[in-house]
Amino acid sequence: MNDLLLKKYEDFRSRNINIDITRGKPEASQLDLSNDLLNIEIDHIAENNVDIRNYGEPLGLIEARRFGSELLDAPVENIITGEQSSLLLSYQTILAHYLFGKSTPWKDIKNPKFICPVPGFDRHFQIFEDFKIEMIPLPLVEEGLDLKALGDILETHENVMGIICVPRHSNPSGEVYSDANIKQMFDITKKYSEEFLILFDNAYLFHDFLPTKAQTPVWKLAEESGSTHQVVVATSFSKVTFGGGGLTFMAADAENLELIKRIRTSMVICPDKVNQIRHLKFIASKDAVLAHMQKHAALVRPKFELVYEKLDSIGDIFGSYTKPTGGYFITYKTKKPIANKVNQLCKEMGVLLTPASAIFPYGHNPDDNLMRIAPTFITINELEIAMDVFLIAVQMAHND
Ligand SMILES: Cc1ncc(COP(=O)(O)O)c(C=O)c1O
Repeated sequence: MNDLLLKKYEDFRSRNINIDITRGKPEASQLDLSNDLLNIEIDHIAENNVDIRNYGEPLGLIEARRFGSELLDAPVENIITGEQSSLLLSYQTILAHYLFGKSTPWKDIKNPKFICPVPGFDRHFQIFEDFKIEMIPLPLVEEGLDLKALGDILETHENVMGIICVPRHSNPSGEVYSDANIKQMFDITKKYSEEFLILFDNAYLFHDFLPTKAQTPVWKLAEESGSTHQVVVATSFSKVTFGGGGLTFMAADAENLELIKRIRTSMVICPDKVNQIRHLKFIASKDAVLAHMQKHAALVRPKFELVYEKLDSIGDIFGSYTKPTGGYFITYKTKKPIANKVNQLCKEMGVLLTPASAIFPYGHNPDDNLMRIAPTFITINELEIAMDVFLIAVQMAHND
């Protein structure tokens, strides 16, 4: 092992650093951007004389659904404006199909399966683990899904019920799916089954921090392809205003909406309409959301640029990465199968990374070569230290 690297490693170890970059959370300064929400004055009577303090409006206030319709580019009758988190809406969607289904509930289907693009989001994987739905990994490419691999999976597997994907700034590798890729996904999956469900988790719909390639709203693409019956789209304000305290939005066709309504009836009598009105007063249009997100971008962009600069400083001998233009993560791909080793070395120097296994279904990346960097939650000074540690760890593990 290189003596200089070893010396740097020992030096970091002796400094008792404690930096955690495991999760993609906003820093407090980003949360401050929405502080007005905490004190906003609202009227308790909404449109159509709805008293927001009482039960009612299970799909959300009509004005909040119109807002969702503008954000997701889907007709208002196809929108739920919900509560808490988009993961909750995604979970309810899977649960509704599992218990009730369209022609057959998934619980009555032998060995049901779901396609999970990789690398991906650990909480998505957790949903399928909960239901014992087998996950089939599908590689991502720059344009979105590896369509050849998608075709191969469908040709060789029975009872594939659907796919979950993050079409804009995918977590964690940042892909923005092209329109052509999405449309071909519709075509390929529709041929397999008209009931094949495409669950778009559009968590990073508004989260560009650098110029991003054009993308048509996924609901519009589904309309153009005659595929709205296959598509459910979810998004939230968890990283627009407050985590767990924002609004959530879902678009689905009438049949899927009925299923989701049915499951929600037994768990949510109505969403938090007080918060819906508060948000509508704070940020009432898509333009206002985009303007607000510019302020987030100004805070997160320097952090991403610092990571890019640091990663570029060691060239491409040890690995590579793509530069996301939005979202919350960067994925580094090592040339050798050393991801777990890099994580371990970082930990020894006082920097906690997301476990390398977390970004693959069942925690298994056969190539052990991908790591997720989440730069937003810590200060820029801490990030600089974390990246220096990361680079030492990559080089040490590579040279080992
Ligand atoms: C892809 C993806 N979906 C959903 C979430 C969580 O969003 P919410 O709080 O709306 O469930 C995240 C957060 O990390 C995410 O990366």
